[in-house]
Amino acid sequence: MTHDKHTLIAAAREAASGAYAPYSNFHVGAALGFADGSVITGANVENASYGLTLCAETVAVGKALSEVWRGNLEAVAVIGGKAGALGAGAPVTPCGRCRQMLNEVAALGGTDPVVWCAGADEVLELRLSDLLPRAFGPDALE
Ligand code: THU
Repeated sequence: MTHDKHTLIAAAREAASGAYAPYSNFHVGAALGFADGSVITGANVENASYGLTLCAETVAVGKALSEVWRGNLEAVAVIGGKAGALGAGAPVTPCGRCRQMLNEVAALGGTDPVVWCAGADEVLELRLSDLLPRAFGPDALE
C-alpha cells in the first residue's frame, strides 16, 4: 500500500476547502490514491438547480479519468461536514452514485480500493466491494 491513511485524509480535508456548497453548507472532500503515489482530489459542487449537484467523489473521478488516470486505484479518503466543522460528525460514506463512479476507476486498474471515511470519533475502513457488491462495470459490456 503506497498510501497512508492520515495523509490521504489530510488531502481530502484540504480538497474540501474548495467545496462550492452554498445551498447545503455541507462541505465534502475526496482523495483518490493511485499505486504510483499520485493523489487526485475533488470537492462537492452544488448548483442552483439542486439535483444537478456533483459530489466530491464524482468530481475526483471526473478529474482522474479526464486526466487519463487509469492506473491502479489503491485507496480513497472522504471527509465531510458543515462548513467550519469538517470531520466533526459521523463519517461520510460515498453515496450510491459515487460508489458506481469509483467502481469505474477501480475496475480499469483491477483493484478493490480501501475507502477511508473520516468522522470525529472513528475512521471507517471499508472496501469498495463491500460498499458496492456485485457491481456493474466495464467488463459487463465486453
Ligand atoms: N456529498 C458529497 O459530496 N459526497 C457524498 O458522498 C455525500 C454527499 C455532498 C453533496 C451535497 O453537496 C452535500 O454533500 C449535501 O448532500
